[in-house]
Amino acid sequence: MENKRKGKFIVIEGLDGSGKGTQAALLAQAMRADGRTVCQTAEPTSSVTGGMLRDALGGHVKRDAYELSALFLLDRIFHNVNEKNGIRKYLDDGVDVICDRYYYSSFAYQGIDADLSWVMNMNLNCKEILKPDVCIFLDVSPDTGDKRINGSRLEREIYENTETQKRIRARFYEVFGLLKTRENIKIVDASRTVPEVSADIIKIYNELKEK
Ligand code: TYD
Repeated sequence: MENKRKGKFIVIEGLDGSGKGTQAALLAQAMRADGRTVCQTAEPTSSVTGGMLRDALGGHVKRDAYELSALFLLDRIFHNVNEKNGIRKYLDDGVDVICDRYYYSSFAYQGIDADLSWVMNMNLNCKEILKPDVCIFLDVSPDTGDKRINGSRLEREIYENTETQKRIRARFYEVFGLLKTRENIKIVDASRTVPEVSADIIKIYNELKEK
């Protein structure tokens, strides 16, 4: 079904401190230089639900993994269907979408505490939540991610500690194993320099645009 879409839908995933934001911006720049119109977006979004999520991620409001899963689901449906600047609208208009985090984060982050198949089913079985053309996973060790967070943040979010990041990384790999026959997942070694990682990501985009 996604082949009929006019724009390409690219998701960038990774642990905290993996460099998603930097790499998404570089990819957007390369795609624009290639003549494409690109929308760069992220989850949680800036919706009301996104604000509730930020409060919980910052530790200001305590929520359990099931509440978080449901809030991320709501935020993601809104992110897809919102008629003004939703993902579906952009793709239909022929705009490429680069999204920093998507349902893979719900599987890996909420899936360490909530029932993984419940989280996966409610996202994958929701017809309003579009399947990306590719998920690019920026792989760093939790220690590397931790050092990068140290350099750039004043406050830490609830998942931002090395022990939790280790469990999340293991969950990502488990989920990629489960999804490998139905999703296009590319793993990139993100412990290298910014230009090296960027070159690999642009190569993945170039392969995708030929399809
Ligand atoms: P992050 O990319 O770290 O944004 P920022 O650098 O602006 O804080 O994402 C925010 C956090 O949200 C991150 O710790 C992962 C978490 N998250 C989930 O737990 N589940 C989800 O479904 C998504 C999209 C994000």
